[in-house]
Amino acid sequence: MEDLSDYRKSYEKSQLLETDIPEDPINLFQRWFHETEEFGGVEEVNAMTVATIGLDGFPKSRVVLLKKFDEEGFIFYTNYNSEKGKAIINNPNICLSFFWPSMERQVIIKGTAEKTLDTVSDNYFNSRPDGSKLGAIVSAQSDVIPSREFLDDKLKALEKEYDGKEIPRPSYWGGFIVKPIEVQFWQGRANRLHDRIRYQLQDDFNWKIERLSP
Ligand SMILES: Cc1cc2nc3c(=O)[nH]c(=O)nc-3n(C[C@H](O)[C@H](O)[C@H](O)COP(=O)(O)O)c2cc1C
Repeated sequence: MEDLSDYRKSYEKSQLLETDIPEDPINLFQRWFHETEEFGGVEEVNAMTVATIGLDGFPKSRVVLLKKFDEEGFIFYTNYNSEKGKAIINNPNICLSFFWPSMERQVIIKGTAEKTLDTVSDNYFNSRPDGSKLGAIVSAQSDVIPSREFLDDKLKALEKEYDGKEIPRPSYWGGFIVKPIEVQFWQGRANRLHDRIRYQLQDDFNWKIERLSP
C-alpha cells in the first residue's frame, strides 16, 4: 500500500477576482494561456485532457494537443475512426481540461464537438512535417495491431510510395472544433479556499458568471 497522505501543497501564486475578469471566457482563457507560457515550467501548455462518453457508456479521457482557439471554439486534430473519434460522432458532448501546475490553475470546458471544415483540416495537415503526415496514414488509431514492426514496415512502404510526391490528408483524419457552453476557471488559493469562476452560455453571446465554492 502506498500512503500518499503527506503529499500536501499550499497554493499561493495568484488569485481570481470578479473585479479582474472579462465578460467573455475566451478572453480569460487567452490571458491564462499566455501567462502560463510566459511563466514557464509547463512544457506543453496546449496539452489538454479530452473526456468523451464512449459507445459503451463509460466516460474516457486522454491527452491531445490544442491547435487553435478563438471565439468559434477549440480545435484539436485526430483520427475520426479512433475510439475518441467514434465516441464524439456518437455523442458530441465532451469536456476539455487543462492543468497548469506552475500557475496552480485548472480550466474545464464543457461543449459540443463537430468536425472542422475539410479546408481547415487540409491546411493544418499540409503544415505538418512529412513524417507526421505519413504517421497519420500509417496509424489506424486505436485498432489492435500485431507488433511494432507492423507499423515500421508500413511506414517504410509509404515512404517509398510517396517519395517526392505530395502526401494527401486521409479522409479519416482531421480536426474537431469544440464549441464551449460552460467554462470554469480554478485558481488554487491558501487553506484550500480556491477561487472558482464559472461562465455559462445563456444565448449566442452572453455568459452568466458565477463564483463556486471551492
Ligand atoms: C502530450 C500528448 C499529446 C497528444 N496529442 C494528440 C493529438 O493531438 N491527437 C491525437 O489524436 N492523439 C494525441 N495523443 C494521443 C492520445 O492521448 C491517445 O492515445 C490517442 O489519441 C488515442 O486515443 P483514443 O483511443 O481514446 O481515441 C497525445 C498524447 C499525449 C500524451
